[in-house]
Parts: sequence; structure tokens; C-alpha cells
Amino acid sequence: MSEILSNVENRVLTLTFNRPEKMNALTRSMYSGLAKGLNDAAGDFGIRAVVLTASGDHFTAGNDIVDFMNNPPTSDDSEVAQFLAALLNFPKPLIAAVKGNAVGVGTTMLLHCDVVIAGPTANFSMPFASLGLVPEAGSSYLFPQLVGYQRAARIFMTGESFDTDSAIEMGLVTANDPDPLAHALRVAEHIAEQPPQAIINTKALLKARNHDSVAAVMKAEFEIFAMALQSEEAMEAFMKFMSKKGK
Ligand code: COA
Repeated sequence: MSEILSNVENRVLTLTFNRPEKMNALTRSMYSGLAKGLNDAAGDFGIRAVVLTASGDHFTAGNDIVDFMNNPPTSDDSEVAQFLAALLNFPKPLIAAVKGNAVGVGTTMLLHCDVVIAGPTANFSMPFASLGLVPEAGSSYLFPQLVGYQRAARIFMTGESFDTDSAIEMGLVTANDPDPLAHALRVAEHIAEQPPQAIINTKALLKARNHDSVAAVMKAEFEIFAMALQSEEAMEAFMKFMSKKGK
């Protein structure tokens, strides 16, 4: 069974993280699958919107830590870099349905979505510093822009998580629904009924202010992240996670 499921209905593509036994932690091949899914959808006239969702009770526990240790992404053509580029440049509406844990890139990818619906169990966190790492996916720029400098600094520097109501208040999420996927699909289908070029132009205008700055920040973040991944601080944090799990 593929770890990224892909399904098209009513001109909406749904991409599902499908590794529930590992809390949908994202591996290199999953990033590749996501990048391909988004890039193909960008050029497919039959697809008007994309929904990102997950199997099981959790959105994703973020980057797979075993992958971080064994195959650290150090070049900007790595799978994760390809996924982040596809996310930044995706021209059509991107809607996320979140439940349970959304750790690391599970939260930062939401900063690129056009609409995010979360369930009451959703829990968002970006514990990069706690892992000896730094914010990625443009989040060091987009998150303080969204929530203000101090709130962003507190969340990044403490690793504290926050719930759906806080995420709504911050503007990261638009609605709390016990069935976030059904809600996200309703929104996506509604958008898919609109004139498609007008939707693409609307998204381009909404994102224009940030696009080039985010691309530059992502590049800078990536360079520091790649170095941090090889640091003692990161190794120590990864080993702690592995030993906690008895691996
Ligand atoms: N990478 C690899 N495997 C992961 C993972 C990750 N990021 N997150 C969870 N898993 C695996 C666990 O190892 C476990 O697998 P196992 O049953 O084979 O041991 C399974 O997913 C369930 O996770 P578990 O830790 O048992 O669940 P929990 O409810 O006790 O804790 C978390 C949930 C999210 C707090 C905990 O899994 C965690 O801290 N994960 C790492 C998150 C992280 O730091 N991500 C990177 C961000 S940059």
C-alpha cells in the first residue's frame, strides 16, 4: 500500500499521508510522492483544488527522525526541498484537513495552505529548536508575520504546542470541525465550481506579496538546517527519541 494515497473526485485531488503506524512521519519517498502529486496537479487541467489529509488519528509527526539520522537532507535538490518548492509554487487552492498531532513540517506546511480545517483533537507544534534544529518551510518568516514576533519566538523557542482554538485565533486555521476532511472537501468542491483561471489569479495575487521573500528565507533556513542536522545538539535529541522508543 502506498504511503501517499491519491484520489480524484469532483475535480479535487486528495493526497493522504498513509503511514499511520508511524504517526504518518514523513520519509524521503513520501516527500517525493507529495512533490510529484502537487507538480502533476499544477499542470492537470482536470484538477481544480487539492486537499491534504492523513490516515489514522494524526496528521503527521513531522519528518521521520530515522531518515533525519540516516539520510540527512543536505542539498537543495533533496526530496524535502522538492516538496517545499512544490508547496511554495503550487498555483491552485490547497486545503488541509488536520486532526491529532501536526508536528514540525506538519504545522509549517499549513502556513502555505489557502484554507485549513482542523478537528478538536488537533495539536500543533514546531519543536525544531528542542531538536537542535531551526524553523523551516519559510516558517521563520511566515509564522511571526501571522502571529506577531513574540508569540512566534515563544512557540519556536519553547517547543510549546497549541490547540485548534488557539490556531483559529492565530489565523492558522479557519474552522474547528469534528469531521475536518468532510469540511475540507466541501470547501474544495465549492472552490472547484468557480471559474478556474479567476481562482488561480486570485491565489497568485494573495501570495504575491510574500512569494520571493519566502523563497529566499527557505533557502537560508535550508542551509542552516542542513548544518544543524549534523550537529551534536541534533544527534543528542535524535538519540533521545530513539532510546525512548527502545529502538
Ligand atoms: N519519526 C519516526 N518515527 C516516529 C516519529 C518521527 N518523527 N514520530 C512518531 N514516530 C513513531 C514512533 O517511533 C512510534 O513507532 P513504534 O510504535 O514503532 O515505536 C509511532 O510512531 C507512534 O509514536 P509514539 O512516540 O509511540 O506516540 P506518542 O503518542 O507516545 O508520542 C509524539 C507522539 C508525536 C509526541 C512522539 O511520537 C514524538 O515526539 N515524535 C517525534 C516528533 C518530532 O520530533 N518530529 C520531527 C519534527 S522536526
